[in-house]
Amino acid sequence: MTTKRQSVHGQWSSRWAFVLAATGSAVGLGNIWKFPYITGENGGGAFVLVYLICVCAIGIPIMMAEIMLGRRGRQNPIMTMEILAKEEGASEHWRLLGLMGVLAGFFILSYYSVIAGWALAYIVQSVSGAFTGSDAKTVSKIFGDLIASPERLLFWHTLFMVMTMLVVARGVRSGLEKAVTLLMPGLFLILVLLVGYAMAEGSFAHGIEFLFAADFSKLTWGSVLTAMGHAFFTLSLGMGAIMIYGSYLPQDVSIAKTSFLVAGADTAVALLAGMAIFPIVFVNNLEPGAGPGLVFQTLPIAFGQMPGGVIVATLFFVMLVFAAWSSAISLIEPAVTWLVERKGMTRHMACVVAGIATWLLGIMTVLSFNKWAFTFTFAGEEKTGGAFDILDILTANIMLPLGGLLIAVFAGWIMSKKSTTDELGMEQTYSGYLIWRFLVRYITPVAVSIIMLKAVGIL
Ligand code: TRP
Repeated sequence: MTTKRQSVHGQWSSRWAFVLAATGSAVGLGNIWKFPYITGENGGGAFVLVYLICVCAIGIPIMMAEIMLGRRGRQNPIMTMEILAKEEGASEHWRLLGLMGVLAGFFILSYYSVIAGWALAYIVQSVSGAFTGSDAKTVSKIFGDLIASPERLLFWHTLFMVMTMLVVARGVRSGLEKAVTLLMPGLFLILVLLVGYAMAEGSFAHGIEFLFAADFSKLTWGSVLTAMGHAFFTLSLGMGAIMIYGSYLPQDVSIAKTSFLVAGADTAVALLAGMAIFPIVFVNNLEPGAGPGLVFQTLPIAFGQMPGGVIVATLFFVMLVFAAWSSAISLIEPAVTWLVERKGMTRHMACVVAGIATWLLGIMTVLSFNKWAFTFTFAGEEKTGGAFDILDILTANIMLPLGGLLIAVFAGWIMSKKSTTDELGMEQTYSGYLIWRFLVRYITPVAVSIIMLKAVGIL
């Protein structure tokens, strides 16, 4: 077989190393910070249901497609698309898909790093006992003071970017992989503990009803797009992060099983976070639609009131930082590998260039929470925000779904049946394969197109 290409950048030591790295990429701020606040803003249950449907019908098939492309191409996303397009006799312009991914990762990391900075700042707050005995009001003041200060935000954003680029500079198999092995189960345990606390002390029934009772009358096309976009975001799909992780995947590993595992773990973490947060929101009469500060203004109330809260809070924010860290490296990895493999830079030089560019763009997000907020309209809804909101909409609601759609089209229509069955390790008549192929050929492209066009009012 000529298609079993030699990887230029090594391989994972085992299937588990890949599952861990992919889960590390998927589980992050998206699950614990973003999922709860967008669920709150979009009215709860119906939104959650759409998100879950999107994970199953669109997310998992695209994850399989993206890993498959990565393993077959074994390069950075741009060169992978070039090689595969050539192999299938398709246009070289498919490389633009890789290029859009590199850009999307860079945009996302620029604001992701600022939010991860909030978590870093909250480690210090936790250790200093700032939350002890505090009520909703003091906690919200702590948060308000933080985001009102560009200097403090910039400091923590800078620290997080340095942490991220240091790991990326050392290559993909770094110590972080080992740290994540320990800390991800830890994060999971603390979330379970917090759900226990919410059960005992919060309005648990109200929280659960908010999360799982679907009232479709409140659902707009804008919300549907946000739910679908989040399915891409939380699974790290549509920009080549999972493609590049797939490019390090040994040939004998089952792509389907791996995808189910990663998506399952990711969804579990998001739902646990929601189940911990909303009961606390309701028992304290807070607004579920409070926006990006939601996690930072609710969980500290619980930490402030539970026994041993200082330790639990510190552990929680340390683990949140690690979850964000292992996601951040996957956001910039495509850009760095591309600078190395295409532009001929050394890995260190590529990290410096990509890191500084991302850091600079991040300053726009720093300012959007204080000095530079404005009002704008997207999908018929007026929003107040700044560069952060624009970057978030541009990436999660436009670039990732578009990238996912193109990945689906490539895997379903451009690649031959033989190439896909070879790579997925499935028979052409196997029902799982037929379902996957049906989903990527028809369901994904049609659903993504309709939702995007509906949301912007064209359909
Ligand atoms: N999935 C991560 C989270 O939920 C964020 C992330 C990492 C990501 N890599 C990505 C999002 C690639 C989109 C594309 O926090």
